[in-house]
Amino acid sequence: MTELANKVAIVTGGSAGIGFGIAQRLASEGARVVIADINEAAGHQAVAALGANASFWRTDVADQQQLRDLVDHVAADCGRLDIMINNAGIGGANHPRLLDDDLSDFHQVMAIDLLGVMAGTREAARVMQENGGGSIVNISSIGGINASAGNWTYHVAKSSVIMFTKCAAIDLGAMNIRVNAIAPGNIETEILGRSMGANLSPEKQAELAGSLRQFIISRQALKRQGKVEDIAEAVLFFVTDRSRYVTGTLLPVDGGLVAGTARSSGGVEGLRKQAQA
Ligand SMILES: NC(=O)c1ccc[n+]([C@@H]2O[C@H](COP(=O)([O-])OP(=O)(O)OC[C@H]3O[C@@H](n4cnc5c(N)ncnc54)[C@H](O)[C@@H]3O)[C@@H](O)[C@H]2O)c1
Repeated sequence: MTELANKVAIVTGGSAGIGFGIAQRLASEGARVVIADINEAAGHQAVAALGANASFWRTDVADQQQLRDLVDHVAADCGRLDIMINNAGIGGANHPRLLDDDLSDFHQVMAIDLLGVMAGTREAARVMQENGGGSIVNISSIGGINASAGNWTYHVAKSSVIMFTKCAAIDLGAMNIRVNAIAPGNIETEILGRSMGANLSPEKQAELAGSLRQFIISRQALKRQGKVEDIAEAVLFFVTDRSRYVTGTLLPVDGGLVAGTARSSGGVEGLRKQAQA
């Protein structure tokens, strides 16, 4: 398929997880994809899996100069930039109670999850304006919409990504640059286990993530695990002409989690049955 033939895309955090899924989908539609990530080993593996249309550029999105160098490199190498996916993110430390959180990772989480998106948007727009426009997609989270305890700074960063996306959209629209956000929920990657089980072995982290996912699915409208491909399809909508009149929006891709909590066999229904018995 060639819906993105002759288009040039950057995917930050594209070495693994959702970013890799997005890179794969964009490449499958004929785009030239540059993966920008701090993980070089995984980045080179990703590029090998994607084939000749993909390349890797080591980038720490927390560093504005590195984002500038990345975009300059892509403009020089490919002559243009059409698509920017600001996806790189970390969960930060989990502290179930606010009183236990010393906020020691505040600056790191904000630098990657928020500043990286803001500077990535600005740098991409600088080049996109020269080629008549483009599409920028910022990856937020359902944690940017729904409040919950635990990853305090992450929630703040991800909700700010949504507001920034709207602000950027109303400014960059005059340059024919569209900016939209996606809020993933319960997508099968390593971020959950890493954030919730920071002190555990990788095996134990995977085990914990598995149990957490089952719990989340029990509260989800759609009773299945979200996949990176589910996010990639939404990205494809935003970066093609299918969404040509859409900017400044937020699309949750979450199996219905943001809509509300679905009934499970236990919960309120179980209590009602118990009372009737
Ligand atoms: N998986 C989910 O359920 C879920 C839910 C909501 C939001 N998200 C968001 O989706 C995005 C991708 O998450 P994921 O689940 O694929 O995580 P992941 O940990 O599997 O992948 C994240 C990628 O980002 C890279 N990265 C981390 N810090 C970076 C930095 N400073 N500069 C450049 N690259 C960096 C990592 O090396 C990795 O390749 C994140 O922004 C995350 O917050 C994920």
